[in-house]
Amino acid sequence: MLQTKPLGNDGPSVGRLGYGAMVLEGYHGASDDGQAIETIRHALDAGLTMIDSADAYGNGHNELLVGRAIEGRRNQAFVATKFGIVFDDEEAGTDLPTGWGFSLRINGKPAYVRKALAASLERLGVDVIDLWYAHYPDPATPIEETVDAMADAVRSGQVRYLGLSNVTVEQVRRAHAVHPITAVQYEYSLWRREAEKNLLPTLRELGIALVGWSPLGSGLLTGTVGVLDKDDFRQHNPRYAGENLAKNRDRFAPLMRIANELDVTPAQLALAWLLHQGDDVFPIPGTHRPERIDENARAAEIRLNDETLEQIDEVARPGLAEGATLV
Ligand SMILES: NC(=O)c1ccc[n+]([C@@H]2O[C@H](COP(=O)([O-])OP(=O)(O)OC[C@H]3O[C@@H](n4cnc5c(N)ncnc54)[C@H](OP(=O)(O)O)[C@@H]3O)[C@@H](O)[C@H]2O)c1
Repeated sequence: MLQTKPLGNDGPSVGRLGYGAMVLEGYHGASDDGQAIETIRHALDAGLTMIDSADAYGNGHNELLVGRAIEGRRNQAFVATKFGIVFDDEEAGTDLPTGWGFSLRINGKPAYVRKALAASLERLGVDVIDLWYAHYPDPATPIEETVDAMADAVRSGQVRYLGLSNVTVEQVRRAHAVHPITAVQYEYSLWRREAEKNLLPTLRELGIALVGWSPLGSGLLTGTVGVLDKDDFRQHNPRYAGENLAKNRDRFAPLMRIANELDVTPAQLALAWLLHQGDDVFPIPGTHRPERIDENARAAEIRLNDETLEQIDEVARPGLAEGATLV
């Protein structure tokens, strides 16, 4: 069974890898609801107990899927979800340009926080959410106000632990002063390493876990991404657009060779490297395929020696990837 570690200073022990459920919404290829539910259940069986969702994934559909998957198994799952990206046209919000050719609408006002919580609990079919993140800070609302409203949900017993996503160091400090933050979610992988510079040291100082999103570079680090379908959401990602896809494939090819030499898959190497960055780093890979959940879980058994870690560090140095990241 997958090893567990405590999530931050105040959190419970959860599997070293979580399961990212966003992929089940057709962003990188379709899956039907029945298969999606089976995939989530397979993640639980494999010890990937932290199931990562968001109200905005599939405009609420993803939380419904998670809710159905954990029916009768509530105690085995550590349900993590997010709010703050507005997906209902009737709701107000502040535009946040992403750098990917579209804007997100964000709302972190207390009234919206309360409304989003009630809707997520309903869709998930649970009385309590284990970990509840603000998906993005609202540019029009001080983070203290958003977190104070989130803390009300902890005080009322509807949420166990609080998280933030896509935040700066300064925002983490301000939020943590209002209510303890258990986990911060940020993109972290061999092709986006900026968290190492300031964010991770700050989280360590404050006793907050880093949950690494897109730990496989949305697939590129697995060596299996070919030509993208025209409706594949990764078309929006500048790292996959035009010539950048081929450039990035070439730049990260040395990792495929290292994986081959170690007799592990590139996906396992990418995840094992993340797990070697500290017991407080929790990657949440996504996949539609149960057999890949097993493959990914085995990454936790891989021991990389110092020489290999140095080699990886050299071939996948920070800043190597071509193309802008999401805000
Ligand atoms: N907080 C945020 O703003 C934010 C943003 C983005 C993502 N996230 C979270 O992070 C999670 C993961 O991100 P992600 O899905 O974008 O990227 P990812 O986990 O880096 O990559 C997922 C892709 O890799 C493929 N894959 C997975 N395991 C594989 C393996 N062993 N071999 C080959 N291919 C493999 C999957 O394809 P198949 O399905 O075909 O296996 C899928 O296309 C999301 O589900 C979401 O929960 C959060």
